[in-house]
Amino acid sequence: MIDLHCHLLPGIDDGSQDLEQSLEMARISAADGVSVTACTPHIFPGVYNNTGPDIRRRIAALQSELDAAGIPMRLVTGGDVHIAPDLVAKLKSGEALSLNDSRYVLIEPPHHVLPPRIEDLFFNLLSAGYVPVVTHPERMSWIDREYDMLVRLVRSGAWMQITAGALVGLFGSAPRKWSERMLREGMVHIVASDAHGPTRRPPRMGEAYAALISLVGQAEATNIVQNRPQAILQNLAPDAIPEPPVSGARDGGGRQGSVWDKMSRVFRGH
Ligand SMILES: [Fe+2]
Repeated sequence: MIDLHCHLLPGIDDGSQDLEQSLEMARISAADGVSVTACTPHIFPGVYNNTGPDIRRRIAALQSELDAAGIPMRLVTGGDVHIAPDLVAKLKSGEALSLNDSRYVLIEPPHHVLPPRIEDLFFNLLSAGYVPVVTHPERMSWIDREYDMLVRLVRSGAWMQITAGALVGLFGSAPRKWSERMLREGMVHIVASDAHGPTRRPPRMGEAYAALISLVGQAEATNIVQNRPQAILQNLAPDAIPEPPVSGARDGGGRQGSVWDKMSRVFRGH
């Protein structure tokens, strides 16, 4: 498996607090079947002022520690990029990081209050050639009010990342229910751990994979934890990658196949 959202770097956000915790998290993940982890610290100006060059240096240093400790894990670059008005410029300058320097970038929306014109921000990213990957929508307090907005984002080319722990009940019943609904409706592109420590919010990819197999079957479960993440690492175009299948129609019809959907594809040039 490939885990593309993990707060594994020690001491730079609310994730791992020191090297020992990072090594333990990596050990748990490796034992769980994860071979590649993206180090994605918060990039949140004014709260966590992490920048691309510093994150790259820290990832190289942590990779050396993992190698020295004999932990079979390859680290790649990334960031848990919080919504900000100038994201495209920051990504282009290297101040903010996409996943493994691909067109795919983790975007963390605010948990409680959505900023006005949030869809414009996604439009700007898509227009600039990025594929925003929305982190853990299933855990947002606004998801019941704004689910249609998430559907519109997916139709226009955004991807969604569900949290491994949400699928196994780590965040309670509502995030689990939303995760399962999004899976049925073809709204889940990847699952990642978003792990923050070895005991508090630990990596749970193995359990999540088992849950995914029972929810969507072996082939799509493998797409979610391995094939699409691998395609991201290779920077493949999104239309070169199978879309999540729809197994249950949402109210008013599934997300795929609408005239709007086809038009947005024409607009995006594929
Ligand atoms: Fe995160």
